[in-house]
Amino acid sequence: QSSPGPTETNGNGELTRKLPSSIIIGVKKGGTKAIISMLDSHPHITAAKGEVHYFDRDFNYELGKDWYLQRMPLTSKDSLCIEKSPSYFVVPSVPERILKLKSDVKLLLVVRDPVTRTISDYTQLDAKKAVKSLPRPSFDEFVMTGDGEIKVSRNVIKVSLYDVHFKRWLKSFPIDSILVVNGDELASNPYSVLVKVEEFLKVPKYFEKEMFYYNKTKGFYCWTGSNNSTNCLGSSKGRKHPEVSEETLNKLRSYFRPHIKSFCSMANVSFNWCN
Ligand code: A3P
Repeated sequence: QSSPGPTETNGNGELTRKLPSSIIIGVKKGGTKAIISMLDSHPHITAAKGEVHYFDRDFNYELGKDWYLQRMPLTSKDSLCIEKSPSYFVVPSVPERILKLKSDVKLLLVVRDPVTRTISDYTQLDAKKAVKSLPRPSFDEFVMTGDGEIKVSRNVIKVSLYDVHFKRWLKSFPIDSILVVNGDELASNPYSVLVKVEEFLKVPKYFEKEMFYYNKTKGFYCWTGSNNSTNCLGSSKGRKHPEVSEETLNKLRSYFRPHIKSFCSMANVSFNWCN
């Protein structure tokens, strides 16, 4: 089966596949789908479909740069392309691999309160177990031992240790090539986040406050895209979180506190959950 070449044309002139100018590296459940979908509405930004997982999965990485390029969307001359693969943030080999391929890439990291992220990650796992009729422990059972200790080896916990992962990225990339955005702000005021992203990516200003409207049924913002289309994320985004005991919440908050402090200081951010 022949694959499309690097250059194709349509009625609007030449379209090419190019390496992404920007990559959304994570974090899983931070709001990565929301930010890439909103950015895809921008006339100077084109998003790759789905999650590419080139740099984090060895079997994809071994297929080489041309394989990666074929996963990129056809883009016009005055547009940049962007991809997102949320597990890039936590896989140790990724920063050096990206650096080797595109040292001037602009990285976007969406992070939210690590306790909420952990619950969100669990909620997604639980939904998948429900579909497969697998046993479904409660959140408290899933992350706490019978002795009231946190199960620190659980992935839902480890992914939330932002400082541990971020430290690795800073060994490969200067801090000014990474924009760290607050996922909680993205959910409550997407416009304010997108303005910062436009500046960071140096694309013409496009987003306006009026493009975003709160959908009461969904409990999240939806937005008006190109051609006046209405866009909301699907039902797998914005799931209802389970009840969690106060004791578990307190233990998680104490556990994450030093990691939050270290991350916010390294990233030079003062989000609502940093203190
Ligand atoms: P929850 O489903 O736990 O609420 P990701 O795309 O990285 O998996 O992140 C999913 C999270 O994006 C959701 O987690 C939700 O909180 C957040 N989000 C931010 N803005 C959103 C929006 N406009 N619509 C739906 N979810 C949004």
